[in-house]
Amino acid sequence: MARNPDPLRSLARGDFRFRMALRPGDGSDFFAPGVEYADVIAERRGLLAQTPDRYAAALPGTAGLLKATTELVSRWLSQSRCPLTDPRITHRPPPPPDGEARALTDWCAETGGHWEPDWVALRRGEDAAYRLVAGVVCFPSGWSLPEKLGRPLDEIHDPVPGLNRSLGRPIHLFLERLPPDTVWWRDNWGLSADPALNHHPSIPRPRLTATARLTTTWLRREDQLLTRLPGFSDILFGIRVSVQRLDAMLSSPEEAGLLTDALRSLPNDVADYKGISPARDALLRELRDATL
Ligand code: HEM
Repeated sequence: MARNPDPLRSLARGDFRFRMALRPGDGSDFFAPGVEYADVIAERRGLLAQTPDRYAAALPGTAGLLKATTELVSRWLSQSRCPLTDPRITHRPPPPPDGEARALTDWCAETGGHWEPDWVALRRGEDAAYRLVAGVVCFPSGWSLPEKLGRPLDEIHDPVPGLNRSLGRPIHLFLERLPPDTVWWRDNWGLSADPALNHHPSIPRPRLTATARLTTTWLRREDQLLTRLPGFSDILFGIRVSVQRLDAMLSSPEEAGLLTDALRSLPNDVADYKGISPARDALLRELRDATL
């Protein structure tokens, strides 16, 4: 799978700073079922059956862009190199044409039980701001889709210290200039004290502490896709989370060095935001002493 073979790719060399780090990507590769498709889909369906309104949401008036989303993703899945025979994956029924929020949210939840990645759609307003108007996010990294629904992207990014100051303008310009028929990928990284994919804020999870070890800490990487929906000024944003335990992932002094640089240079407010501060010294000590 060409998605991102190197788990450490998201850790750039040198001191930490927020980066655009966009690269040309491919929609078919992004949405194609991975080796863990059956398990991931079972988990998604369980979450969406129990508490659909925690993970799926849509504003009224989004049927057109949801239809464009399903046509685009269905086309990508049909072109995928993976052998897909199940038409329930490759050809989703369109959303109800004049649907209310309830019917559109149900459609998002239903679709989210067939496609492996999470996704959201952003609509460009007359004020040129991009607002989150629909989607399904079963595996968020500490945020809730319904809480962000209807909000513009800079407000969505507000909790991330310094992000709007450093990248708010480049992100907006990138979205404004994104030509149709192009797909871009980027990624974010974090650390967690468990390998769970679903880090919704309403679910209690173990936190990183001063007793963190490489064997009890996971790199949580978020691969993301950005594209403009055909025929719209709106944006489709895909998210795929993967986790790998640090001791199993680091296999050379160079790799340990990448993580060491990233941890050491994280500004305190960003380390707090990522939940890494309590564990930072313990992990740096272990990385220094590790023989890889
Ligand atoms: C080129 C475009 C984008 C860039 C460079 C970018 C960058 C980032 C970065 C660096 C973070 C912090 C992650 C971390 O360090 O843990 C973040 C968080 C986030 N981003 Fe973006 N992002 C982009 C587009 C989007 C889009 C289109 C959405 C769609 C809604 C989005 C939603 C979020 C959310 C929900 C968070 C977490 C905020 C929270 O904790 O409440 N981003 N983004």
